Amino acid sequence: MAKEKHDMELRPNPRTGRYRLISANWKMNLNHLEAIQATQKLSFALRPADYSYTEISIHPPFTDLRPLQLLIDSDRMRFSLGAQNCHFEPNGAYTGEVSAPMLSRLNVSYVIVGHSERRQYFFETDEVVRAKVEAVFRSQMTPIICVGESFDERQRGETETKLRAQVDSAVSFLAPELAERCVVAYEPIWAIGSGVSAKAEDAQQGAVTIRTVFESLWGKAVASKVRIQYGGSVNPTNAADFMQLDDVDGLLVGTAALDPESFARIIQA
Ligand code: PGA
Repeated sequence: MAKEKHDMELRPNPRTGRYRLISANWKMNLNHLEAIQATQKLSFALRPADYSYTEISIHPPFTDLRPLQLLIDSDRMRFSLGAQNCHFEPNGAYTGEVSAPMLSRLNVSYVIVGHSERRQYFFETDEVVRAKVEAVFRSQMTPIICVGESFDERQRGETETKLRAQVDSAVSFLAPELAERCVVAYEPIWAIGSGVSAKAEDAQQGAVTIRTVFESLWGKAVASKVRIQYGGSVNPTNAADFMQLDDVDGLLVGTAALDPESFARIIQA
C-alpha cells in the first residue's frame, strides 16, 4: 500500500490525532482552462500556514485531471488531486467509463464514491458503491465514501438506520488496515446545493453514527482513525462551526468551492 501523501508539514489535529481534509467537489463545472485558472487563484489566495492545518483535495471533472496534475507538479502546489467517480473494473468494454488504475496513474489520491447525485441520477446501488471502494483501494488510492439521508427519511426518523446501512455495506468487507484509511463524507441529501446546511449538532450526530459503525466492526482503535467530512451547503460563514466538531475532520464542498476565494476562506475559517 502506497504511503499516504501527507505533506511533511501537515500537522494532525491535536485534539483527535487525525489529519483534516477539505475537498473541493467541482461536479460537472469548469473546463480544463477554467480549472487551471481556478487552481492558480486558489494557490495565490492561500498562505503557507493554511496548508499546515488541513490537506486540500481538488476533485475536477475527468478532462481536467491531466492538466491539473501537470500544474500541481510543475508549480509544486500542495494540493492533492481527487476524482469524483470511477468504474469498479480495471478495464474492459464499458463505454464512457474511467477506471481506478487510470486515475492512480494521474497521481489521483482520493476518489469520491457513492455521491448522492451518482446514486440518484446514475442509479448506483450500495453494491456498486462497495465494488468501487474495493477498486479504489486496489489502486492504492483513498475513497471518500458519501452517505446521507433524504429529507423524507429525516422526517421519518430514519437518519441513523440509513447511515448505518450505507456505511456498513460500503466498508464491512475491508481488512482493518484499509478500514482505518477510509474517509466518509456525511452529506444529508436535503442539504446538498440547497443553501440550507445541517445544524452543527446534526452533523456531529451523523459523524458519531458513522464512526460507531467502524467501531462495531473493528473496534475503537480503527474507528478513531477514520476521517469524517461534513458536506452540504458549506460556505465561508458556517465552515468553522463544522470544523470544531469532535467527530468532523473535514469538509466536502460543492458550490462554494467553485469560487477560489470563497474556497480559500473556507480553508482559513
Ligand atoms: P454543496 O455540494 O456544497 O453545493 O451543497 C456538496 C456536495 O455535493 O458534495
